[in-house]
Amino acid sequence: MYGKRILLGITGGIAAYKIAYLIRILKKQEAEVKCIMTPASSAFISPLVVSTLSKNQVGIEFWDKNTGVWNNHVAYAEWADVFLIAPATMNTIGKMANGLCENLLLATYFSMKGRTIVAPAMDLDMYKHPSFLRNIETLTNDGVTVIPAEDGELASGLEGEGRLAEPEMIASFLAAFMSAAQPVSEKRICITAGPTHEALDPVRYISNHSSGKMGFSIAKAALLRGYEVVLICGPTEETLLHPLFTRIDVVSADEMLTAVKRIWQTCDLGVFSAAVADFRPAIIADVKMKKKEQTTSIQLEQNPDILKWASFERQNNQKVVGFALETNNEKENALLKLEQKNLDFVVLNSTQDKGATFGGEQNKVTIFGKDGELVELELQNKFDIAVKLMDIIENVNA
Ligand code: CTP
Repeated sequence: MYGKRILLGITGGIAAYKIAYLIRILKKQEAEVKCIMTPASSAFISPLVVSTLSKNQVGIEFWDKNTGVWNNHVAYAEWADVFLIAPATMNTIGKMANGLCENLLLATYFSMKGRTIVAPAMDLDMYKHPSFLRNIETLTNDGVTVIPAEDGELASGLEGEGRLAEPEMIASFLAAFMSAAQPVSEKRICITAGPTHEALDPVRYISNHSSGKMGFSIAKAALLRGYEVVLICGPTEETLLHPLFTRIDVVSADEMLTAVKRIWQTCDLGVFSAAVADFRPAIIADVKMKKKEQTTSIQLEQNPDILKWASFERQNNQKVVGFALETNNEKENALLKLEQKNLDFVVLNSTQDKGATFGGEQNKVTIFGKDGELVELELQNKFDIAVKLMDIIENVNA
């Protein structure tokens, strides 16, 4: 981020307090930071904090009565490599989408020649409101990039989607955004994520500990690169909202395959990160199984291999990326999967790596292409891995 000129717009929501930390991260990364605040935002974070951390004067009004300075919105817009508005309230997003230009921040947005990114933050009902979704769609069509809000505890006491993405996440999003080559557009990616549940009877199932976090991180990284994303996921608590994002919820491997079959030929790329159960009970009992005996056995049959199906059914230049979760002989097994499943890339996860656990925020992977190992990535945030994976997929001619 050295020397990158980040114009940071702060609007009036409680999440504005997180921006102090974001400015510190960006300054540590040696970016230049200038800030514009809406008048309402100064109730949530002091302009003194913002100017001290950013080492620049803060623009709030067109005409600063205290200093006599005229804050020129055109000069701000010309200076910035990127305009990041975080937190972006429903009010500001609504005005941006509808051409209302009542303050310095909005006037600067309408004067921008470079890209604008918004990181919305609001209560969960506002975040789902059709009016907000309409406005976000308009902004996306206007070329604005959206950093989706996260799921979690909200200042109102409610729980759900609408929390401002964490400063670290915004900073890595921004770094990837600034370093990405030309964003691809009008491309569609199919991602599978999460576990599958294979029913035994009406109340029990066989599954694994996959959380779906890796797949959702890949979805975010792909959205950032301008892809339209179709994510087919097994039962997961992860959430994501974006106008270019479609989520298809499934339960079993069979359902996942049906969903993939429906959309695969419309996609340019497939990343199959789901932890699909390899086996399912051969018979699903109609009623709850009773514990009559001391021991029992369950007959299992193999599930279809979704990745293999997609890879052998591909047409034209569709690229296929698979994952390999291994406990031993990791490299050999991963390369075998690459070959047998006819993949362009395989992403190896080893259970031997500490910290790279199911459900965790971090992962450690090695990525192989057709010519062998491409990169071994350190233990890091799943989103950062996803960004690097997307870079490799885009830049290596598999
Ligand atoms: N996969 C799939 N459908 C399956 C099983 C696996 O699409 N029925 C995909 C996974 O999403 C992953 C890759 O295949 O991208 C490898 O999955 P993994 O569980 O590591 O290997 P398996 O092929 O199941 O082989 P094994 O369990 O024998 O290691």
